[in-house]
Amino acid sequence: MMTVKQTWQEKGYVCEPIPEGIDLLAEIEKLKKQKNAVLMAHYYQTADIQDIADIIGDSLALAQKAVGIQADIILLAGVHFMGETVKILNPDKKVLIPDFNAGCSLADSCQPDDFARFLAQNPGHKVVSYVNTSAEIKAMTDVVVTSTNALQVVNSFPKDEKIIFGPDRNLGSYINAQTGRQMLLWDGACHVHEQFSLEKIIDLKKTYPDAELIAHPECKHQIIVLADFVGSTAALLSHIGKSKAKRFIVATESGILHQMRKSFPDRELIAAPPIDSTCGCNNCNFMKLNTLEKIYLTLKYEWPEVNVAPEVAAKARRPIDAMLELSKNFAK
Ligand code: 13P
Ligand code: SF4
Repeated sequence: MMTVKQTWQEKGYVCEPIPEGIDLLAEIEKLKKQKNAVLMAHYYQTADIQDIADIIGDSLALAQKAVGIQADIILLAGVHFMGETVKILNPDKKVLIPDFNAGCSLADSCQPDDFARFLAQNPGHKVVSYVNTSAEIKAMTDVVVTSTNALQVVNSFPKDEKIIFGPDRNLGSYINAQTGRQMLLWDGACHVHEQFSLEKIIDLKKTYPDAELIAHPECKHQIIVLADFVGSTAALLSHIGKSKAKRFIVATESGILHQMRKSFPDRELIAAPPIDSTCGCNNCNFMKLNTLEKIYLTLKYEWPEVNVAPEVAAKARRPIDAMLELSKNFAK
């Protein structure tokens, strides 16, 4: 399903303007208590949202921590597919996201009809899908993966198993290279992680020869092969603590720099530059649609609410549960 594009006005809400000088943080806290709501946030959210979240993490941690939440309302500050995953894991709870337009170019690059055709054209394969997919794609999948556990999950299949991997061609190629497999790849990508400039990164490495390049596997092949360390958002964060280096060029969405600076204030972090240095496009425009104001309004009006058709949710739950089972030894 494409991200639902519906605004507050289309929904018919006439929101009173948020009063000037309101203490948003206090109001959000009050609403959370009143409504028994919990706020989850992905590492790509703005610093102010990360700092008030009850639960924060990368895609895997958010899926793991979504299991067994006791609140009545879960507000997920992230993007639509993350809200769907939380809803699938919590069918009886109200799951909210701050903005329906917070989609994902990678998830949108894999539409259900096209993917179903691709599977029909290539029978006899196990289907491994990145969590950055709609519920409909997950419903056609054998095991879901995130960037944290993709290698481990793919390695859990016999070496000669035929596998279709979608939708991220960069993560898929990276896993193929790491495992020596030849998984059939869907040709999708994240427009944020594909933006990093090889030339500018090489220039930075010349200026700071002591700096480690650390990169997310959604980046293009030429960045991955140059990188000193490749890992998911959470893996990049923990790598900084383990490495002897003091300076890092970080090739992923810039939101994680906030946690990196909080956890390791003595390290110098340089955001890897995108090809167009004026575009600010190592910020995910979808992730950054979320604001404290929208979080306040969402809690107040209990909208936008994420819903997944029960028959789709039931099918999509199996590959998510399979992933969670295979990832039990990964820290939450
Ligand atoms: P992780 O949270 O698995 O690092 O994924 C990154 C991402 O692009 C999320 O949309
Ligand atoms: Fe999607 Fe890329 Fe944004 Fe993650 S960073 S939500 S993969 S568009």
